Order: sequence, then C-alpha cells, then structure tokens
Amino acid sequence: MYSDKVMDHFQNPRNVGEIEDASGVGTVGNAKCGDIMRIYLEIDDEGIIRDVKFKTFGCGAAVATSSMATELVKGKSIREAMLVTNKAVMEALDGLPPVKVHCSLLAEEAIHAALWDYAEKNGIVIEGLERPRSDISEHEEEAAY
Ligand code: FES
Repeated sequence: MYSDKVMDHFQNPRNVGEIEDASGVGTVGNAKCGDIMRIYLEIDDEGIIRDVKFKTFGCGAAVATSSMATELVKGKSIREAMLVTNKAVMEALDGLPPVKVHCSLLAEEAIHAALWDYAEKNGIVIEGLERPRSDISEHEEEAAY
C-alpha cells in the first residue's frame, strides 16, 4: 500500500522537533481526521531556509509527508519553497494511496502558514502566498490527485 520511501520517512522521520525563536511557525489541521501539523522555519537575512523542524500529531502518511516536505525546503530560498506543493511531496515519496492525498496537503499548507508568519513578522509580501487556513478539511477536494 505504501512505497518504501513513505515507510522510511514514517519510521525514521527527518527534522522532527521545534526551533526556538523560529523565523516563522505555521500550524494547520484537518477537522475531518483530527490531524494537526506544525512547521518551524529558520530563515536567514538572505531569505534562505537554514533550518526546518516539524511536529505532527497525525497519521503515518502525515508524518512521512511532513518529513519529506521539510527535506525539500531545507536550504532553499523562499521562492523555491513556494514550489514545494503537495504534489511535489507525493512525487518525492513515490506516491500515496488516494485516501491519503489529503495528508500531503497538510504539509504544503503548514509550510505556507509558517512562511506567512515569517512574512507578517517582517512586513514583507511573498508572491503567490495566500493567507493560510487553520482547517483545510473543506478544501481537500482541491488537492492534486
Ligand atoms: Fe488526516 Fe492523514 S488521515 S492527515
């Protein structure tokens, strides 16, 4: 049912934890399944994501997608991080079963929420970034299958 990569990231998740005084923190949840994800970003003066950590209170696919999403944005610029969609995360994991696609959306939204927090704290606008939703369950159908 799950790819080797999903199982690997579920069993050995990368970048678990939190960052004290993070540049941006984003928390999103899905009211339907009750899962919650929080992402911490440390962004330097050049706008490069130097460190990223996550905490996920959720299913195995949510843990695996958060882990992969943090790996994909680490060391990247904000603009590059904006390209890390749930589809990109799923591809990097060699796919997810259709019923688990919404879990990857949680990862994308949590990164966006953390970037939004960073932008607000610094009074900047990140192109293409929309105000995050704290509950994404109503928008699951928009997920890219
Ligand atoms: Fe909700 Fe996976 S079942 S995030």
